[in-house]
Amino acid sequence: MNTHTPHLSPLDYIPAEIACARDYVSLAQRFIPADILAYISGGSGQDITLHNNETAFHRWAITPRVMPAPENATTAIQLFGEQLRHPLLLAPVAYQTLVHPQGELATAYAAKSTDTCMLASTLSSVTLEQIAQRSTAERWFQLYFQPRQENTNALIQRAIAAGYQAIVVTLDAAIQAPSLRAVRAGFKRPETVKAANLIDPGSDTPRQHSSGESRIFRSRRENAPTLQQLQQLIDESPVPVIIKGVLHPEDAGLLQQSGAAGIIVSNHGGRTLDGAPASLSVLPAIRTTVGDQYPLLFDSGIRSGSDVFKAIALGADAVLIGRLQLYALSVAGALGVAHMIKLLREELELCMAMSGCATLADIRATELHKPF
Ligand code: FNR
Repeated sequence: MNTHTPHLSPLDYIPAEIACARDYVSLAQRFIPADILAYISGGSGQDITLHNNETAFHRWAITPRVMPAPENATTAIQLFGEQLRHPLLLAPVAYQTLVHPQGELATAYAAKSTDTCMLASTLSSVTLEQIAQRSTAERWFQLYFQPRQENTNALIQRAIAAGYQAIVVTLDAAIQAPSLRAVRAGFKRPETVKAANLIDPGSDTPRQHSSGESRIFRSRRENAPTLQQLQQLIDESPVPVIIKGVLHPEDAGLLQQSGAAGIIVSNHGGRTLDGAPASLSVLPAIRTTVGDQYPLLFDSGIRSGSDVFKAIALGADAVLIGRLQLYALSVAGALGVAHMIKLLREELELCMAMSGCATLADIRATELHKPF
C-alpha cells in the first residue's frame, strides 16, 4: 500500500458527519491512499461513462403522492426462489484488502448482519471459502472465466461446495480497459494484495494462439468463454447462472433464450468501454425485451436510495452496490458497510413512503417524470 500518502486508519465507529449513503464517497478520500483511490474511483478512458452513470439518474423525478398512505409496506423481494429482505446486493468488487485489512471478510460480516446478498469476486483478496465461512447470508459467486477450462471448472466446483447459491458470470471485462486516472496516479497493486482464489495466476496459459493476433484481440478471446462453454455452464450448473455486464437488448434476449437464470444490466461502473451508455439509459429497453417476469438486476452509478427507486421503476428487480461498498469499508470496515446498507435502505423506504409505494412491485408500476 502507498504509505507516502497520508491517510487515516479505519474507524471502529461511524463518524457523525455521515448523514447519507453518498457521504461515504467524500469521506473515503481521507481513508484511501491517493493512488488506490484513483484505481477504485476512476472509470476507463476519459470517465465519460462513469460520469453519465450518475447523471442519468438526475434526468428522472419521483412524483410524491399524498394519498392514500401505503399499508403493510415492505422492501422484501423474492429472487431465484429466495426471500430477501431488501433489493440491495453487494456487487462483486475485487481486492478489498486494498482498503481495509480484513477486506472481504469485513464485507461478508456486514452482509450477514444486514441480510444482504454478497457477490464474492473471482478476484477477491481472501478465498471464497473464507468468505463463505464468515457469512451465513445469501451469497453468490462471481466468475471470471479463466484461460484454462480446468481452472474455471475448479472455481465453479469450489463455489458450489462452499454453498454459493448462484454463479454470476461477468462477461464485460475480458479486456482490462486502462483507467487513465490510475495510470497517472502510478497505481500498482501491492504484492501483498493477491487474487486469493487463483492458486498461481501466472501458470494459467491460454487456450490457443492464433498468429498475427494483437494483444488486445487475444485478451478478449482468452478471457471470455466461448458460446459453447457458456451454454455448458448454464445447462449443467446445479445453481442459477446469472450473466453480468449486459447493455444491449439483443444480447439480453439471446442470453435469456440460452437459459440464463437472470441478467445484470451493468457497464462495470464505467470501467470497461468508455463511451458505453449509462446503464440506466438502456435498462427500460432491456426490460421490454426480456418481459416483466424475467429476473433483471442493475448496477452502475447508484449512490442513494432514490437512485435505487429509479432503477427499480425503470425495470430492475434489484440493484448491486459497487464503489459505495469500498468507500464505506475504508472508513469503518464491517460497521461502515452495514451502516451504508442501512442508510440506502432507509433512503429507499423514504422514497417509497412519499410516493405511495407499499412494495417493490408498486415501484415497478410507478411512472417517473422529467424533473423540469
Ligand atoms: C469492480 N467491479 C467488478 N465486477 C466484477 O464482476 N468482478 C470484479 O472483480 C469487479 N471488481 C471491481 C473492482 C472495483 C474497484 C470496482 C469499482 C468495480 C464492478 C462492480 O461489480 C460493479 O459493476 C460496479 O462497481 C457498479 O458501479 P458503481 O456502483 O461502482 O457505480
